[in-house]
Amino acid sequence: MNATRKTVLSAVQPTNSMHIGNYLGAVRNWIPYLDEYDCIFFAVDLHSITVEQDPEALRENTYRSIASYIACGIDPAKAILFVQSQVPEHAELAWVLTCHSSMGELSRMTQYKDKSQKHGSHIPTGLFTYPVLMAADILLYGTHLVPVGEDQKQHLELTRDLAERMNHRFPKSSSGEDSALFRVPEPMIAKTGARVMSLQDPESKMSKSDPAPGACVFLSDSDKEIEKKFKRAVTDSGSEVRSEEQSAGVRNLIQIQASFLNQDYNAVLQRYVGKQYGYLKVDTANIAVEHLRPIRERTEAILKDRAYLEGILKQGRAAARARAEKTLSEVYKRLGFVRE
Ligand code: AMP
Ligand code: TRP
Repeated sequence: MNATRKTVLSAVQPTNSMHIGNYLGAVRNWIPYLDEYDCIFFAVDLHSITVEQDPEALRENTYRSIASYIACGIDPAKAILFVQSQVPEHAELAWVLTCHSSMGELSRMTQYKDKSQKHGSHIPTGLFTYPVLMAADILLYGTHLVPVGEDQKQHLELTRDLAERMNHRFPKSSSGEDSALFRVPEPMIAKTGARVMSLQDPESKMSKSDPAPGACVFLSDSDKEIEKKFKRAVTDSGSEVRSEEQSAGVRNLIQIQASFLNQDYNAVLQRYVGKQYGYLKVDTANIAVEHLRPIRERTEAILKDRAYLEGILKQGRAAARARAEKTLSEVYKRLGFVRE
């Protein structure tokens, strides 16, 4: 790690396979940072268990997430790749931050409000404290920049508030000088692909946990599955693309195609004005298939080489811990915990 370089950090939940929202809104946009920043990317298994997980599936999806990162172009020689639960400082700092957060601010989190609705009267407490663990993930590493999709912006705001609150509360370092305990991180929201919507309900974002078949295009889907999902994508009661106003479904397809091709929304729109929706669906499917095939093949090849993956995780864990330990030790000292 290079002391003069800024740190970029992000993470993905190892539930299911990644989908094109994760790819276009997150992972793909991280590649340019590899040469310019210290990069830290990880699979957040502690976050995943805020909702029920099948243990065997969680284990496999954790390996799969790391393999997908690499297959999407995250070179493990240029980034720290690791699994969150293997670095215990995340859970430890999360507790400290929990004690400095309030019920009120956590109740305002949109993701919590959405997710808790699905749980009736038994809402797991972890869903409520989820953003505090995320803040710990970020603050442990003196992170400068956090590239995420738009849905995570509010959690980033909370992270900044917690960092500022702690800095204010504990202004003196363990050696007695005035120095900020945490760096206050900046969010980085991608312009294109920041919000990929469900193919079945284009008013809500594409999500791994969406039970509607065909709602979500996974990086592990076969060419045929990808084609089928795009062909059945929900549009609207019209039949051809209009230049003025597009429905959410049509807009989503144009947006996805524009993202894959790195083109402007309007440039893509112009190609389809006056044409039947079918053309837009078929072309978008083909473009997605061509982009995703090599990623899928690379992921499967990496997954077969477990020893290689284990090696990457071991190296990543050691590098992450070296940084995380330093931060946590300073936090504990400032709080007044007795240290050896
Ligand atoms: P998650 O799947 O919730 O762990 O999200 C991992 C990353 O993908 C985060 O940076 C999210 O902001 C991003 N992300 C998740 N879903 C979408 C989506 N539908 N569109 C764009 N980005 C997304
Ligand atoms: N909460 C994020 C999501 O669901 C995942 C996440 C956990 C994360 N910790 C993080 C993202 C730290 C960025 C930085 O998308």
